[in-house]
Amino acid sequence: MCGIFGCVLREGKAAPIIHQALKRLEYRGYDSVGVATIYDGRLQIKKDSGCVDDVHKKLDLNDLNGMIGIGHTRWATHGAPLMINAHPHTDCEGKIAVVHNGILENYSDLKAELLVRGHLFASRTDTEVVPHLIEDYMKQGFAFLDGVRETVKRLEGSYALAIIYANEPDKIVCARSQSPIVIGASDIDSCVSSDIPTVLPLTNKILDVQNGELGILTANTLNLVRISDGTPIQRDLRTITWDVELAQKQGYPHFMLKEIHEQPRCLEDAMRLQRRYIDLITTFLDRSREIYLLACGTSYNACLAAAYMFSNLCNLSTHPIIASEFIEQYGNAVNIESTILAVSQSGETADILHAIDHARFKAATILGLTNTIGSTLTRVSRAYVCQQSGPEIGVAATKTFTSQLLVLAQLALSLAEVRGKVSQERIDEFEVKLNEITHISETVINTQEEKVKAVVEKYRTAKCFYFLGRGINTATALEGRLKLLELAYVPSIAYPAGESKHGPISLIQEGFPAIFVCPKNETRKALIGNIMEMKARGAKIIAVLDEEDQEVKNLVDDYFEIPTGIPEILSPIPYVIPLQLFAYYMALARNCDPDKPKNLAKSVTVL
Ligand code: F6R
Repeated sequence: MCGIFGCVLREGKAAPIIHQALKRLEYRGYDSVGVATIYDGRLQIKKDSGCVDDVHKKLDLNDLNGMIGIGHTRWATHGAPLMINAHPHTDCEGKIAVVHNGILENYSDLKAELLVRGHLFASRTDTEVVPHLIEDYMKQGFAFLDGVRETVKRLEGSYALAIIYANEPDKIVCARSQSPIVIGASDIDSCVSSDIPTVLPLTNKILDVQNGELGILTANTLNLVRISDGTPIQRDLRTITWDVELAQKQGYPHFMLKEIHEQPRCLEDAMRLQRRYIDLITTFLDRSREIYLLACGTSYNACLAAAYMFSNLCNLSTHPIIASEFIEQYGNAVNIESTILAVSQSGETADILHAIDHARFKAATILGLTNTIGSTLTRVSRAYVCQQSGPEIGVAATKTFTSQLLVLAQLALSLAEVRGKVSQERIDEFEVKLNEITHISETVINTQEEKVKAVVEKYRTAKCFYFLGRGINTATALEGRLKLLELAYVPSIAYPAGESKHGPISLIQEGFPAIFVCPKNETRKALIGNIMEMKARGAKIIAVLDEEDQEVKNLVDDYFEIPTGIPEILSPIPYVIPLQLFAYYMALARNCDPDKPKNLAKSVTVL
């Protein structure tokens, strides 16, 4: 996730406006910053790695002339967070400048083609193919606008682009597929941005750009056309009535709710990982004698689920381990034949880095799964993969958890393929389901949110909850519990449901709420037994269940429904969503701020 902005004015300097806009977009990433303007028929560019304030201190971002310009703040995906990879990127002649938010899936093919045609590349980004491709089309005789349209027609993946051309200094061209972009229009200027809050200080008149559309902005005019055939689109401006703070949350009252709703898009991005990262990690996993899955908190719950994935798909046992326990539990056992797959959203969690130090000392191989390129974890790992969820602002992990699960499932599948542990038929079936998970998650959010609110009303004063599951959904139950206790401060208990009879069931009394994660899989029969034993002792049962599971619906007091037909190892992704929403609405019902849980920090950098 990156932030892009561009503006074209009738008078004055664009650069200070772009600089201020990038400050507001910094929540979308701050690995590097760059601005390009056109002055005197030439592009002027300033860019460097670092956050907006640091780059401004070094380069003075306001000190660029020109009434038109574009800017970018980067969340690195392809290419390290270095100056050379900072946007804007340009063509060979330095006349076309491009800023981009998104991931171009076919950039290596395009780059190979452009290299053969003599184009020279300065960066390791996917974005840089765009200015070169436009240049190439223009060399073939296309006008600038047509060259842009031909170029974006060939892009696969996600993009929000803003493009300027030194020879046509009156316009910015923007284009969209999957990544957000809006155009703002006032009496004296036009702008384009990744989000509405950044536009609001300039104007509250917004023109939405949809997927497959190209926008052309001058200081006085706005035009939209279809990318496919160039036909014009008529759309009215709309007036935004939110204040800036509400707009930053895109109309949601809290970042947590916004991030829960962002999950389908993040899952889609997690499906766009480059194959070579998955392959490299798979190679390391394949040759290791033992694998430790190292993490804390929510990321640990993802590792626990991953242990079931590796066992189910690859017949491989792994050791999920809470990082702060690693040295005591496995410190002596770990050796040169061990592999540590460390999972950390921030990549900076001290417990994890401390455990990794120890493992490196014992010559183990370190692999990483993180959301933060450039983090310490990426530096200490032999190989790492970035989950590409974009910054998570809510302290409680939500979208990063489901994306971690999806990346881990892809790794397990890839290892199963390499080891010949699954049939081609099963792989094919599984891949279909992987591709459906985005839509399924969207359905769960859209259909279950109101139900969650109603169930919260019934249980808002409960003193304690049980969260129970079996198999891989033990991890889902643990994650549901963690969300509820950290956000709504309700003491809660979670464990594999089969353990009830070994002790915890003694707490159950009339009216005690117990939440069961109950997909239709091999654990279901045993789980029904666990539901019955709780019911017999007066517990109120809430289930997250398969929408077609009438038998369990008849047994329980309340339920949340998940679309049918999800393979077991992907089930934690949709099944955790109602539990995230439950924790969120319980927090509200109990007057707690879900974005600022007490005593917690987003990144825990102390031991
Ligand atoms: C809970 C939560 C924490 C983190 C944990 C690890 O909602 O966010 O439990 O999961 O602190 O953080 P990372 O993944 O950054 O290592």
